[in-house]
Amino acid sequence: MSIVIISDRDPKAWLSALKARAPELEVYVYPEVENKEKVEYALVWNYPHGVLKEFPNLKVVASMGAGVDHIMNDAELPRKVLVTRVVDKQLGIDMAEFVLALILSHLRNLLVHKGTEVSKEWTPKTYFRIADPTVGIMGMGVLGNKVSEKLKSAGFKVTGWARTQRTNRELRIFSGKEELEPFLNEINILVCLLPLTPLTENILNKDLFSKLPKQAFVINVARGRHLVEKDLLEYLDNGHLSGAALDVFRTEPLPQDHPFWETPKVHVTPHIASVTPPSCA
Ligand SMILES: NC(=O)c1ccc[n+]([C@@H]2O[C@H](COP(=O)([O-])OP(=O)(O)OC[C@H]3O[C@@H](n4cnc5c(N)ncnc54)[C@H](OP(=O)(O)O)[C@@H]3O)[C@@H](O)[C@H]2O)c1
Repeated sequence: MSIVIISDRDPKAWLSALKARAPELEVYVYPEVENKEKVEYALVWNYPHGVLKEFPNLKVVASMGAGVDHIMNDAELPRKVLVTRVVDKQLGIDMAEFVLALILSHLRNLLVHKGTEVSKEWTPKTYFRIADPTVGIMGMGVLGNKVSEKLKSAGFKVTGWARTQRTNRELRIFSGKEELEPFLNEINILVCLLPLTPLTENILNKDLFSKLPKQAFVINVARGRHLVEKDLLEYLDNGHLSGAALDVFRTEPLPQDHPFWETPKVHVTPHIASVTPPSCA
């Protein structure tokens, strides 16, 4: 039995974590694989679709991160393989701290003042406090739950939206299509933590933005294809939304000529909200 790593990430840290845990394992980095018939596990991230067919005895395709959309979108994914993903404690902690940092930076205008610092302007702006906004989290799964706990403990009012109904004494969770509008109507900061599926692709669009109160702020830390980029630009431009923090994009790296780079109301980070450390996986 052997493992193949197929990824656009530097595999060194994964190789040494696997060697440390199971020195007897044969681990290869694609395309340097000695005997493709012996490969039963593939550890993947943004791999070239179609290549998994080269391994006739593949049993498991393991995502190197929390998302499996890059695997499920592979039209040539072998039919009988098991697909797994990483769920580790640190991933949730990192995501929660990142979202908290973004929200605080938005409330206290830190990015706006970075701009006024560059242009040497002394223009104090009115700020908001933790007690002011309601934060709505779309997607109350592994990461959404961690983020809601962190925000609640910091003193924020938090609500959530998920697929299935549930009771949660700590916070109100709206569910399903019928409760999306009432959920949106009440929130000032939207955090997208949905998985990318045919039902959630393009969900952050102008119809959804129009249901948010005026001056709402949008955070997308899930997947780039949740967001209709031109709709976001239109709703920032017409003043309905006050800004957006985006960590994920339809095309990554974000192309040099993309308008987000030049839009002061958009805060761009390069997909760093929470990265799976190989030692935890
Ligand atoms: N930016 C980064 O660095 C980074 C790092 C890691 C992960 N991510 C991304 O973060 C996202 C969340 O990951 P996760 O592990 O927390 O996901 P997860 O555990 O699978 O949670 C998914 C949540 O979304 C809800 N949901 C799914 N489809 C829905 C629909 N059609 N309508 C309403 N709610 C729906 C589910 O509802 P139910 O609970 O009712 O089933 C669940 O609460 C993923 O997109 C992942 O790729 C980003």
